[in-house]
Amino acid sequence: MLQDKITQYTADINAFSTENADELEQFRIKFLGTKGIIKDIFDEFKAVSPEEKRTLGKVLNEFKQLAEAKYQALKENDTADLTRKDAGLDLTLPGAGFDVGARHPLALVRREIVDIFSKLGFIVAEGPEIEDDWHNFSALNFPEEHPARDMQDTFFIKKGGEKGDIALRTHTSSVQVRMMEAGKPPFRALMPGRVYRNEAISARAHCFFHQVEGLYVDENVSFADLKQTLFYFVQELYGEGTEVRFRPSYFPFTEPSAEMDISCTICKGAGCQLCKYSGWVEILGCGMVDPNVLENCGIDSKKYSGFAFGMGIERIANLKFEIKDLRLFSENDVRFLKQFKTSLI
Ligand code: DAH
Repeated sequence: MLQDKITQYTADINAFSTENADELEQFRIKFLGTKGIIKDIFDEFKAVSPEEKRTLGKVLNEFKQLAEAKYQALKENDTADLTRKDAGLDLTLPGAGFDVGARHPLALVRREIVDIFSKLGFIVAEGPEIEDDWHNFSALNFPEEHPARDMQDTFFIKKGGEKGDIALRTHTSSVQVRMMEAGKPPFRALMPGRVYRNEAISARAHCFFHQVEGLYVDENVSFADLKQTLFYFVQELYGEGTEVRFRPSYFPFTEPSAEMDISCTICKGAGCQLCKYSGWVEILGCGMVDPNVLENCGIDSKKYSGFAFGMGIERIANLKFEIKDLRLFSENDVRFLKQFKTSLI
C-alpha cells in the first residue's frame, strides 16, 4: 500500500512543472513541508514490517531525493530566468520616446517670415476672415467695376451691409485698412492669415490659401526702403546671394506697384522646370501705398507715405520644400505632415 502511494506520488512529481514561484512553493509545502507527504510517508514507514522496511527503505529515500531534486531544479530554473531578466534591464539605454507630432509646413514658413520681419521692428496684426466690401475693396481703391469684386472670385455671404456686401476676404490687404483706421502712424506690421477665392480646386489653385501682408507707414518712407526691406527678407529666408528683381505691375492700392522675383531657389538661375527656364520666380506683389488708401483710412497723405507688400505662404513654402500640389497643404495626410518634424515645438 505504501508502495502504491509512492508510485502514484512519483508519477505526480515527474509530471509536475512550473515557472511560477507561488506554485513551486506550494509544491514544496505539499511534499517537503514539515506536515508534507514525505513526512507522512516516513511516519507510515515506521509501522511496516522489518522485512518490508528493507526493500521500501531504498524506494522511500529515492522518492525523497526525487522530490528534492525536482524542487531544486525548478527553483534554479526560476532564478535563472530572473537573472536573465535582470541582465536585460539596462537602465542606461535611452527611453523609447514619444511622438510629439510635427508643425504644419505653412505654420513653419509663417513663423519664419514673422521672425525675419520682427528683427526689423514689424509687429503682427490680424483681422477678420469675414469682411465687408469697404475693408476688402473700396478703401483699397478698387474701382466699382473691378473684376476682383465679381462673383467669380469672391465668396459673397450677404448683400448690402452697412459697409457694403459681406464676403470672405480675398486677401489680407483688408487688415491694412483696419489697422490704419484704428491707429495713428507710424505703422510697421505683418498681417498673416487665411484668404478665400472662388476657384476650382486643383494642384495649382485652391479656394482658400494663406497670405502675409506687410505695411510700413511713416514720414519719408520711400521705394528704396521697400526694396531694401524686401532684399533683406529674401537674403534671410533663402540665403545670402539670392538675387531679386522688381517688375512694374498694377494693384489698385499701391502706386507705383511692382512684383518681385527672386533667382530660382532650385536651379539658382540656371533654368529649370520650376522657373520655366527663366531663372526667376515671382514671390510677391508690392508698392507704395496709394495716397487714396491713406486718405480713406484717415491718414494725411501729404505728411505720410508708406509701402506695402503681400505674399502667398503656400508659394513661399513651395519654393522652400518643393511641394508641387497645393492640395497637400489641406488634406491632413499624416504621411505628408510628419516630414516637417522640427525642434520648434
Ligand atoms: N493683395 C494682393 C493679392 O492678394 C497682394 C498684394 C500686392 C498686397 C501688392 C500688397 C501689395 O500689399 O502692395 O494678390
